Amino acid sequence: MNTIQYIRTGSFLAAVAAVVIWSCNSDSNAKAPTPVAAKAPEILRVDTNALPTDKYGEMVRYGRALMYNTAYYIGPDGVNGRYLGNRMNCNNCHQDGGTKAFSFNLMLSHQQYPQYRAREGKVLTLAERINNCITRPHNGKPLPLDSKEMVAFLAYLRWINTFVPKDQPYQGQHNLAVKLPDRPADPEKGKTLYQEYCARCHGKDGEGQLAGVTYTYPPLWGRFSYQPGSSMHRVIKQAQWLKANMPYDKATWNKPFLTDEEALDIAAFVNNDSLHARPDVKNYDYPYIAEKAIDYDKGPFADTFSAKQHKYGPFQPVISYWEQKGMKASY
Ligand code: HEC
Ligand code: HEC
Repeated sequence: MNTIQYIRTGSFLAAVAAVVIWSCNSDSNAKAPTPVAAKAPEILRVDTNALPTDKYGEMVRYGRALMYNTAYYIGPDGVNGRYLGNRMNCNNCHQDGGTKAFSFNLMLSHQQYPQYRAREGKVLTLAERINNCITRPHNGKPLPLDSKEMVAFLAYLRWINTFVPKDQPYQGQHNLAVKLPDRPADPEKGKTLYQEYCARCHGKDGEGQLAGVTYTYPPLWGRFSYQPGSSMHRVIKQAQWLKANMPYDKATWNKPFLTDEEALDIAAFVNNDSLHARPDVKNYDYPYIAEKAIDYDKGPFADTFSAKQHKYGPFQPVISYWEQKGMKASY
């Protein structure tokens, strides 16, 4: 995923550079091709009026419904099957059905798989990647690959991908970056901030607010929340998402509410395992430990840093360590 992002951004920058070089060329007689203006990255939207009405369209619609109402269809009392271990919806993290910019956007996913995934140490299909989210954030059991639900998710992801212009970068495929301070993220500070900014919706004890089959406000920890092996459990990853998306009624990507340090401190508090229990699973992630994301807190580690530093930082020394070895730290 990252490699493709670099290529895309790279070609965009190259296009900008080409325009700049051309406009600096003072030799007006020089025969040169008309420069193509570099188009600024845009925020993409899908047009739900354009949903197809044929059999394929039916599957796309069902896939979209599954994104928004996952618990209703395939939750613990799901009307079409019982797969999830909790009552959360895909949409809780991939907002607007995976089309919201800077909210774990899924509009490019369909064209990016099969893809090598370090966490599993192998090439995964998109269906297998979807099942990772069913098993981890949703603490559930994998959908059969030929189930109607899996086909519907895939059809939907294919459909939203058709709104991505070819060879143009778009805004918000990845979440916003956060500046990593030279101190560890602080769960104590995060606790105070959480009570101030988050508890009014997610509850004093992170329990969320259940309304029937699913939540008005999803839980942030406890046994009905995401597993420790979920990417949302990583402090940097969560902070990047919080910055553009929470508090729900206050933050937007172009006007974040939390500062970068606040987002990191809150993520450190939410994801602190001694304060907050989660569904406990033993899994064997990252068979090649040198490929481990630097904010993944379960050892063993291929570098010299403690589990605590991998959890809370400071992360800059870890990034430099890998850079000195000629490798890119992933997070
Ligand atoms: C608790 C939050 C959460 C929930 C709920 C969740 N996901 Fe995810 N999902 C993530 C995170 C975090 C990633 C990793 C994104 C990254 O690394 O930038 C991810 C990644 C993915 C990807 C891979 C995207 C790519 O292009 O590589 C797919 C596909 C996906 N999720 C589908 C789903 C589906 C379908 C559901 C519902 C069944 C779901 N997710 C529920 C958090 C969640
Ligand atoms: C006004 C209510 C509100 C406030 C305040 C709020 N959230 Fe949320 N949060 C939501 C809603 C609603 C969703 C689900 C979004 C959706 O389904 O579109 C959500 C989703 C989430 C999720 C992903 C799903 C999950 O449960 O894991 C996280 C993490 C999260 N919020 C963290 C926070 C943090 C941290 C704060 C404080 C900085 C915060 N939220 C403040 C309403 C709120």
